[in-house]
Amino acid sequence: MKIVSGPASIPLAEAVSAQTGYPNVPVVSKVFPDGESYIRIDGDIKGDEVAIIQTTCPPMQDGKLFQLTFLADSARRAGATKVTAVVPYLAYARQDKIFLSGEGIGVETIARMFKAAGVDEFLTVNLHSETSLKQFPMPAKTVSAIPLIADYFVKKGYKGAYALSPDKGAMYIAQQAQAILGGDAGHLNKTRDRYTGQTVQTAEGLNVKGQTVIILDDIISTGGTIVGAAKILRENGAKHVFCGCVHGLLIGDAEKRILDAGVEEIVGTDSVPGAISKVSLAPLLSQTLKGAK
Ligand code: R5P
Repeated sequence: MKIVSGPASIPLAEAVSAQTGYPNVPVVSKVFPDGESYIRIDGDIKGDEVAIIQTTCPPMQDGKLFQLTFLADSARRAGATKVTAVVPYLAYARQDKIFLSGEGIGVETIARMFKAAGVDEFLTVNLHSETSLKQFPMPAKTVSAIPLIADYFVKKGYKGAYALSPDKGAMYIAQQAQAILGGDAGHLNKTRDRYTGQTVQTAEGLNVKGQTVIILDDIISTGGTIVGAAKILRENGAKHVFCGCVHGLLIGDAEKRILDAGVEEIVGTDSVPGAISKVSLAPLLSQTLKGAK
C-alpha cells in the first residue's frame, strides 16, 4: 500500500506513512485564477493499492471534497489497483436524514460522488451517525478516537474523571471514555428546533458535585452545545470542567466562548488541524490500515 497525502492532511498522512512503513506519495495542488482546483499525484502508483488521506473540515470543505474526488479519479487513471479514501472529518456527515421535506441527504450524495470517482473503500473517524454508512455504495467504516482523547486526559492526571456526553444519543462516546478514565459517566438531554436551529439542554439526576468532568462530543461547531453543558455542570457543582472532541471545528469565536464558560482546556484531534488538535489520529489510522491489509 502507498499513502497519498491529500493537501488538507499532509502532516497526518506523513505520520501514518512513518508509522505503517507504507511509502508516502506527495501531491501537487494549486488553485487557478478562476478558483478551480488543480491536483496531481506526484509519484508512481501503478499496480499499487493506495490510501488517500484527506480531511474535509472547514474552511472550504467543498474544495477539499473536490480535491479528494479528483485524487481518487487520478489514482485510478494512474493505475492504482484499489483506492481507499481516508477522510478523518467528513463534511456533511450531519446531513444524514431528511429533517424537513424538500431536503436531500448530503452525506449520501457525497458517498455516491466518491464511488463515481473510483473510491473502492471508505474510512472515517467518529462519523456523526454510524448508520449513514449503510447507505454508502462501497465498504465503509468509522473508527473511534475517543479512547485516544481519554488517554490524553489520563496522562494529564485526570484518571477517575466523570465522562459526560452533552446528548443522550452520544452516550456511547461517554462510555468509551469511561472505559479508559475509570470514573462515572452520564449524559445531558438536548433537543433542537429544526427551523431555528436553537437547542435546549437539560439534566436529569446528574451527580457531579465536586468532580472533575470531561465533556466529550464528536463535533464542536459553534460551541453552543459545550457552553450550555458547562453552564449546567457549574450549576450542579462540578469542580473542574474539561472538554474533549474528535472534530474541533470551532467556528467563529467558539473557542473563546467555551473557555469563558469555565472549560479549562479543549482537546481535539488533527482531523481538524489547529491549536486544539493535541491528539493525533495517526496511530488509530495506521493500525486500521495495517489491519485492512
Ligand atoms: C450534534 O449532534 C453533534 O454531536 C454536536 O453536539 C454538535 O454538532 C455541536 O454543535 P455546536 O458546537 O454548534 O453546538
